[in-house]
Amino acid sequence: MISIPQGTDAQWDALAARLRAIGLTSAWAREQELSSERMPATIASEWLRLKYQVADTPAAYALRLLARDEPVDTRQAVVALGEVGFAFARECGLITETTDGWRSPFRLYLVDDLYLLADRPGATLDIVMGVGLTTELLARAAYPPQRVDAALDLGCGGGALALLMARAAGRVVGSDFNPRAVAMAKVNAALNGIRNVEFREGDWFSSVAGERFDLIVSQPPFLPKRPNEEHVIFMHGGARGDETAHRLAGEMKDYLTEGGVGFILAELVTAPEGVTALLYGEPVDVEVDAAIYAAHLHRKKGREWWDETHQTVAHLRQCGVEELRLAILIIGAGNAEQLVIHRDPWRTMDRSQIDALWVAGTAHDWLERRARVVAGTTMEGECALGEKVRLWTLRSGRGSLRANPQVGDGILDLIRWVTRGETLGACVGGLSATDREKALGVVDQLVRHGILEMV
Ligand SMILES: C[S@@+](CC[C@H](N)C(=O)[O-])C[C@H]1O[C@@H](n2cnc3c(N)ncnc32)[C@H](O)[C@@H]1O
Repeated sequence: MISIPQGTDAQWDALAARLRAIGLTSAWAREQELSSERMPATIASEWLRLKYQVADTPAAYALRLLARDEPVDTRQAVVALGEVGFAFARECGLITETTDGWRSPFRLYLVDDLYLLADRPGATLDIVMGVGLTTELLARAAYPPQRVDAALDLGCGGGALALLMARAAGRVVGSDFNPRAVAMAKVNAALNGIRNVEFREGDWFSSVAGERFDLIVSQPPFLPKRPNEEHVIFMHGGARGDETAHRLAGEMKDYLTEGGVGFILAELVTAPEGVTALLYGEPVDVEVDAAIYAAHLHRKKGREWWDETHQTVAHLRQCGVEELRLAILIIGAGNAEQLVIHRDPWRTMDRSQIDALWVAGTAHDWLERRARVVAGTTMEGECALGEKVRLWTLRSGRGSLRANPQVGDGILDLIRWVTRGETLGACVGGLSATDREKALGVVDQLVRHGILEMV
C-alpha cells in the first residue's frame, strides 16, 4: 500500500493556499457539475470528464490531477501547483509520474471550504474511505447550531466529520482503529490548518475511556460480511452489517455529557434498543443495495461485480434479510418515548430542524391545523375466538421496523374524534385543562409514530 504523504504544517498550508489561489473550491466544482446534471445519467459523467479536459485553467488541471484520477502533463501540473507545490507534491508522493502523465494515488475531496485527502476507491483491506453522500448527510444532521465544548468522531476515517465539527467545537477527538486512517486524518488537519482536533488510534470507545462529549458522530462500517470474505475495516459491520451500529448505539450514552447528543449513520436491518430517535430512509431491496455497494469496489460493471452482488444477496437472504434502510440513530436527546420518522425529508434536515423535534408539547403548535390518518395505516386486533378485541396494533402507512403502537378503544375513539373536527383546537377546545393536555399528548405521540399527520 502506498505510504501516506508526509510534510510540515508550513508545506501543507502553502499547498492549500495555492489551491485556493487558483480557484479550486467546492463552489467552483459544483458550478462545473451543474451543466452535466442537465444531461441524462448515461452521458453525464463523460460530459463532465471532457469539460474538464478541454478547460485550460489551473483549477481544472488541479482537479484532474488530484480529484479525478485523470493524468496531466508536467506543464499542467506545474501551472496547477506552482513550482514549489509541484516539488513538494512529487517528493511526498501526493503525485507520481506514470506513462501517460502525472496522477495522484490519492483522491482529493472538496467539502465546503475543506480539502480532504483519502485513498482512491478499491478493495484493499485498510483503505481510507473517501467523503461520500452518507458522510455529508450525517454532517448536516449533526452539525450543532450552537458551539459545544467537546466533540467525538468515532471511526473518523480520513477525519472529514471531525474536521467539519471542529468549527463548532472547542476541541474534537477523532479516533479510528485503522492506523492508516489516523495518519490520513492528521494530514487533512494540517492541510486545512485545523489545530483543535486530536486524532487517536483505538478500538471504538477504548480510545476515549472515561471521557465525555457534548456531541458524538459516527458512521461505522455497515456492510454485511460474508463468511469467506476478508475483513475490510471501513466496510464490514458484521454478518448482517448492522451489528456494529447496534453495539455503538448501546454504549454511546456512557460517553455523552448531560444534554449531549450522539448521531450514528448506518444501514439497518432491525432497530436497536435504547435510541431516542430513528430517522429512516425508504426500505431498499437487498439486491439493489448489494449491487450499489459492489459497484464501489468494481469500477468495471462486469462479471466480477455481478458475482459479488449475488454472493452478498445469497448471504443476506440466508441471514433472513430482505431489505435494509439507511438510518440516522440519535442517542441522548429528548426524554420521551422513542421517536421514529419515516418520511424522507430527514435527508435534508439540518440539526436545528432535528432538535425542534424534541420541543415539548409540539401538538400545542398544531391547534389551527387538522389531523388526519396517514394514508395506508392499518389496525389489527387479535384475541381468542368469541372474545372481544381489547388491544389493537397500529401499523403506519409509512411502514415501520420497530414495534408498532398498541392501543385500546379509548385511543381509537380519540383518533376518530380529532380527525373529524375542522381543527385540532376546535376538537380539544371544550375539554378541561387536564383532559386537553392528555389528548394533545396522545396526538403528539400518534404523529411521532406516523399514525396521524397534521394538514
Ligand atoms: C464507513 S467508514 C467512515 C469514515 C468517516 N467517519 C466518514 O464518515 O467518512 C468507517 C470507519 O470506521 C473505522 N473502524 C472500523 N472498525 C473500527 C473499530 N473497531 N474501532 C474504531 N474505528 C473503526 C474504519 O477504519 C473506518 O474509518
